[in-house]
Amino acid sequence: MHKVQIAPSILSADFSNLESEVRAIEKAGAHMLHIDVMDGHFVNNITFGPALVKSIRDKTRLPFDVHLMIDPVTKYITDFADAGADIITVHIEAEDDIQGAIELIRSLGKKAGIAINPETKIDKILPFIDVVDQVIVMSVHPGFAGQSFIRDSIDRIQKIKVLIASRNILLEVDGGISSLCSQDCINAGCDILVAGSSIFNTNNYEHSIREIIGS
Ligand code: DX5
Ligand code: ZN
Repeated sequence: MHKVQIAPSILSADFSNLESEVRAIEKAGAHMLHIDVMDGHFVNNITFGPALVKSIRDKTRLPFDVHLMIDPVTKYITDFADAGADIITVHIEAEDDIQGAIELIRSLGKKAGIAINPETKIDKILPFIDVVDQVIVMSVHPGFAGQSFIRDSIDRIQKIKVLIASRNILLEVDGGISSLCSQDCINAGCDILVAGSSIFNTNNYEHSIREIIGS
């Protein structure tokens, strides 16, 4: 049976206690750790770089799902791979050479993803569909945690699922995910749910994860 995975975003974790947050989220049942990298240029926020990724690499066995909201992006990919990223996702809207970025990620032995913003035409994915392992459908405008889920995303997830067809690509949804919309995302074909504030802003991570994935 199709089982959805949950990737908590550490953007909403307590940065002053990151080691214990990472350990707690693993214990609570997370399948991977979603790491939001922002540059203050591609999006209006600045978060963290490879040094932080490296600092938590030996604190958990969870795979690192690194979401790069940065442009240029290619010149930083090797640093994130060396820091311990397992999946590296770049944005289709970046002006950098995205095909080249994806090739570099794969040449480093990492899984490659492409992320698409809410206002970007879905068919922009087509040139990359045979070279990625993952597609991230953004269900908020990237930049900040705690935004509301954009309902149109359900329709976009369904359409992208059709484009993916039988390819071995995981479909991830990112932004505003809570138990209010998670089941609709799963029904629309999502394999991975990213959730930040609806997990880290609660006092029982295990319960929050169970509520979101419906188990
Ligand atoms: C948005 C990020 C998301 C976000 C998720 O730019 O890519 O991963 O932090 O946080 P919530 O679940 O609070 O929307
Ligand atoms: Zn993200």
